Amino acid sequence: MRIVLGVGGGIAAYKAASLLRLFTEAGHSVQVVPTEASTRFVGIATWEALSGHPVSTTVFDAVDTVNHVRLGHEADLIVVAPATADLLARAAAGLASDLLTNTLLMASGPVFFAPAMHTEMWNHPATQANVATLRSRGAVVMEPAIGRLTGKDSGPGRLPEPEDIYAAALAAAGEAGSAPAAGLLAGRRVTVTAGGTREPLDPVRFLGNRSSGKQGAAVAAAAVAEGAQVRFVAAHLEVPVPEGVELVQVETALELRDAVHDAVQSTDVLVMSAAVADFRPGENADTKIKKRDDGADPVITLVRNPDILAETVQNRSASGTGPSLIVGFAAETGDGSGSVLEYGRRKLERKGCDLLVLNQVGRSLVFGQDSTEVRILSPHEDPRIEPPALTGSKTDIARHLVERIAAELAGAPASSSTGAVPPG
Ligand code: C5P
Repeated sequence: MRIVLGVGGGIAAYKAASLLRLFTEAGHSVQVVPTEASTRFVGIATWEALSGHPVSTTVFDAVDTVNHVRLGHEADLIVVAPATADLLARAAAGLASDLLTNTLLMASGPVFFAPAMHTEMWNHPATQANVATLRSRGAVVMEPAIGRLTGKDSGPGRLPEPEDIYAAALAAAGEAGSAPAAGLLAGRRVTVTAGGTREPLDPVRFLGNRSSGKQGAAVAAAAVAEGAQVRFVAAHLEVPVPEGVELVQVETALELRDAVHDAVQSTDVLVMSAAVADFRPGENADTKIKKRDDGADPVITLVRNPDILAETVQNRSASGTGPSLIVGFAAETGDGSGSVLEYGRRKLERKGCDLLVLNQVGRSLVFGQDSTEVRILSPHEDPRIEPPALTGSKTDIARHLVERIAAELAGAPASSSTGAVPPG
């Protein structure tokens, strides 16, 4: 493919060098078009050396080749990374003030933006309006990652990792260039949360959990395989990010809540498979907590995190808008006062979600394991009938769940008559 890589003037411009490498090593021909401001971060020599093509920021170089018209017209894909607030604004306004914005106006193929800026700039109504304008014209604007920004601050606005931009940009090019996706979830937007949140105590320590993210990653992959447009909200994972998803990285429960809040505005299905910490340290110390000279033990006070699943269900009821289907997960052990199924049913009622995937947990069951046993509970099923236990690999369970989601969306819940998930 012929790719134009537009580079905006932000500190994250250096990460575009890795992105360029990913494209060229996969055999694509890349023409880099930086903005003038970006060359204060990464110089033209770097782009020329890495891409093997002459590079300019202005329409007044190589005028004989009519660069300002030709580049956009010939590109099979235009990727802008980092897309700063200024660049998004200029693109949305249709300005042609430099070679990159001329190229964007001449684009005849898919256009993809990977934004990077401070959280306040990203959240500003002006930027959000520009993003909405660009999306309404068919451009793909990735959600920025959530995490450490230039200074000490952190939040949404970080440039997603080059590997993630690479995968999402190629997916966007594929989508735009091929026939509509086929599959049980074709045309559906699905958001999947996965992994375990980490709640910081100080700059080096956190409270975490044993979730590997395997089940959530398997659900996201199964949804992609069935043609869904998948946003994958990933807390700490021990497995690779599935291909073909739009990745939003988060660390803490509060960041995950923000990411879910953003996603529910435009998703048909929310699958909450992340292990969200119920509590976080009341204070996140700016400096490492030291052992005290008087030998006193440190005291950590925990405060409750919001229940994101229950909150999303409540918001949907209150506003009348939101995902058509909200799926929760539960891991229960059962005890003297209730069986795993009883606890699952109580949780389904408490959370109010449309489906609950109930896992039985023990010390070696579920967390990090490949194989699992689940029951899928629905509020519409007769409580006198025990839903079958489904056993299989997490991939099998994910495929089954995706089929069930598709059936629910179609208004006909599939009834599971057997306990074994059919292989393949
Ligand atoms: O209450 P419990 O943690 O067992 O509930 C599990 C379900 O609720 C999962 O779907 C999980 O993603 C979600 N959850 C949440 N917010 C929390 C805790 C759990 O959305 N604070």
